[in-house]
Amino acid sequence: MRALQFFRRGAVVQIEKFAPDTMLLDYLRLTEKSKGTKEGCNEGDCGACTVVLGTAHNGGVHYQAVNACILMLGQIHGKELITVDDLARDGKLHPVQQAMVDTHASQCGFCTPGFVMSLFSLAHENRPVDRAAVVDQIAGNLCRCTGYRPIIDAGLAVCNSADDQWSRAQSETFKILTAIEGDLFVGDETSFFAAPATAEKLAELCAQFPSATILSGGTDVGLWVTKQMRTQSQIIYTGHAKGFSDITDHGDHLSIGAGVTHAAAFDHLKTLHPDLGELARRFGARQVRASGTIGGNIANGSPIGDMPPALIALGATLHLQFGKMSRKMKLEDFFVAYGKQDRKPGELVWRVDVPKPAANQVFKCYKISKRFDDDISAVMGAFLLTLQGSKIVEARIAFGGMAATPKRASKTEAALIGKTLDEAMSVVLDDYAPIADMRASAEYRVTVGNALLRKALMEAAGANDMRVLQP
Ligand SMILES: Cc1cc2nc3c(=O)[nH]c(=O)nc-3n(C[C@H](O)[C@H](O)[C@H](O)COP(=O)(O)OP(=O)(O)OC[C@H]3O[C@@H](n4cnc5c(N)ncnc54)[C@H](O)[C@@H]3O)c2cc1C
Ligand code: FES
Ligand code: FES
Repeated sequence: MRALQFFRRGAVVQIEKFAPDTMLLDYLRLTEKSKGTKEGCNEGDCGACTVVLGTAHNGGVHYQAVNACILMLGQIHGKELITVDDLARDGKLHPVQQAMVDTHASQCGFCTPGFVMSLFSLAHENRPVDRAAVVDQIAGNLCRCTGYRPIIDAGLAVCNSADDQWSRAQSETFKILTAIEGDLFVGDETSFFAAPATAEKLAELCAQFPSATILSGGTDVGLWVTKQMRTQSQIIYTGHAKGFSDITDHGDHLSIGAGVTHAAAFDHLKTLHPDLGELARRFGARQVRASGTIGGNIANGSPIGDMPPALIALGATLHLQFGKMSRKMKLEDFFVAYGKQDRKPGELVWRVDVPKPAANQVFKCYKISKRFDDDISAVMGAFLLTLQGSKIVEARIAFGGMAATPKRASKTEAALIGKTLDEAMSVVLDDYAPIADMRASAEYRVTVGNALLRKALMEAAGANDMRVLQP
């Protein structure tokens, strides 16, 4: 297929020519001239640019709010695109907009369109919506005038049901979206946006163009374009490839495809352990979780990525794929040094196999960040303790934010083995010499790392879970 295709305002839009790194927000505001969607931060933080994408799912359409500023135009291939400009019909506001008016929630013109689209997306989730659900939904929409209360009221008033043209047209839209199939390749060999339709084709293309940018959710790559002004001329998008975002439960372990988004992983991770569910819920905000993937979070090699420490502590195995060649390694071995991972150009992070904790194992993980929602970790600690009675016979501890890579605390692990949980309270975390940066000072990181170790040991010994409860 040589043209990008997406469904918008009742018709399939086809685009045969576009710069590979065109951002969706620029397309909307500069090409389509739909200016209801606003540009605030241009880095995925404020939600002013929130739009909704519909994906064909189980005979219907799954609607999710995403940040248009860091989403590339090519990522909407095969999706339905809805923006705030589309909601009012024949001079009548959409129920979500009307609820915003009725509760006096419409405040400044920058944030309101994003709030409307986030609530629109929640209203189409077809699930009971309470205050916590509304708060979680709008955590990625920042209002600097602090007027959240009426916005939450609007959400509660309207998000428990969606009866509008989109909900009524779901089966028709499903057919239209599923008809957009096959590999996408727009451009030529020097400059292209490609979205292979299967995982095998994806691996083949990445091996053929090893210097191309592999794009998954774009929640990092998007910022290379919007903040670092780096041109991306060859892009291979993973999100259209069937078989790349599957999750399989093998009984004793979960197999998570690299293309699984944080939103899709949430339900599975929380069954593995509630702490993982909580971590997934605090990963960025809704818009970031809808786009960002587990594979991207591993591949970017960030020392402050949230998933790697948790997955390392659980003993995850990483699978990589280059063309037809696959290999695997312990996840911790993938992170070689700052900005350096054991991955050659064109090689894909393919999937991660995550063992489930056994009955005699205690798992704990904690994210420490300045803000509760929508913030990157200052320190992220994960612990897997294997116990015989109260004696620690094996320990796997991994931290993010404490070293140049997500890293195991091998010395501390060794010091814990053979000790009872009580005796282990005297062990000091002795593996890291963290740096100070704008997120935290070095001293803070060491203090927090030790506090988290103690918290994990106390909770393993039966102390109440001291997590902050969801508001
Ligand atoms: C507002 C905001 C909040 C955020 N909050 C958090 C947070 O709370 N915790 C956190 O850990 N991170 C956070 N992030 C960072 C980012 O969202 C995550 O790291 C995310 O998981 C990246 O995944 P992605 O699919 O978007 O990756 P992309 O941006 O698509 O790619 C990231 C990197 O990985 C490469 N890549 C992607 N997929 C593959 C693959 N399958 N194989 C090989 N290479 C690949 C890309 O080429 C690129 O180098 C946040 C980002 C933003 C913008
Ligand atoms: S403009 Fe702020 S999230 Fe997109
Ligand atoms: S609605 Fe824009 S700052 Fe509050």
